[in-house]
Amino acid sequence: MSLTHSSDRSAPWENRSHIRRLRRSDRADFAAHLLRLDAESRRMRFGSAVGDAVLARYAEGALGDDSVLKGVFMDGTLRGAAELRAIRSPLPEAAFSLEQPWQGQGHGARLFASLVDTARNSGLRRFTLQCLSGNVAMQKIARRYQAQLHFEDGEVTAELRHPGGDMASLTREAAEERFAQSLAAADRALYRLATEVGVDLRLRRV
Ligand SMILES: CC(C)(COP(=O)(O)OP(=O)(O)OC[C@H]1O[C@@H](n2cnc3c(N)ncnc32)[C@H](O)[C@@H]1OP(=O)(O)O)[C@@H](O)C(=O)NCCC(=O)NCCS
Repeated sequence: MSLTHSSDRSAPWENRSHIRRLRRSDRADFAAHLLRLDAESRRMRFGSAVGDAVLARYAEGALGDDSVLKGVFMDGTLRGAAELRAIRSPLPEAAFSLEQPWQGQGHGARLFASLVDTARNSGLRRFTLQCLSGNVAMQKIARRYQAQLHFEDGEVTAELRHPGGDMASLTREAAEERFAQSLAAADRALYRLATEVGVDLRLRRV
């Protein structure tokens, strides 16, 4: 059984994006990402309509000790996240969110692949995922990983079982983190250089 799909692992520079683990210091960016979700994406992600205040509160508690989050960054801005919650429980739960303009371009599948590696490398042998039964994209991705899908009352619960981490999953995750660190270092060097010659690069950001 192959747990890596080449299409889920396109080179990050092809879509000018990268994935890395989120830290507590990313909390404000995570909140900003959730607040940019349109109404339909919020409904798909949380199962019902949720307002800004609820999302802000959710983001506040999301990066605790009992969860792992991965983020996909487009040109330095967090546009999507994969969450693994209750990682100390027997059955952790995963959830995904991508802002609407970045949906349907393979980023959800890449986040999923990355989260499976994280789960394997953390010693988690299974997790579940809940989504609405109309969420075809999410179910397609879960099926690729041989998830067992249970349909009930308009909702689908996907249960994934996977082997523990191995050299391949450890290497992929380490490479992902190192790539993100290199980008951040290059960014810092560029800003330092620009400051030295009196150019304000922030003016380029939209
Ligand atoms: C669900 C979600 C994570 C999927 O990520 P995505 O980047 O949009 O999906 P991908 O581009 O990786 O596509 C995955 C598969 O679904 C298909 N797909 C994508 N959008 C689709 C759509 N609207 N309808 C049908 N199939 C779709 C793709 O063709 C691909 O199929 P393939 O495996 O046969 O190639 C993302 O759309 C999202 O965050 N939506 C809002 C929140 C949400 O639904 N969260 C899930 C519940 S926790």
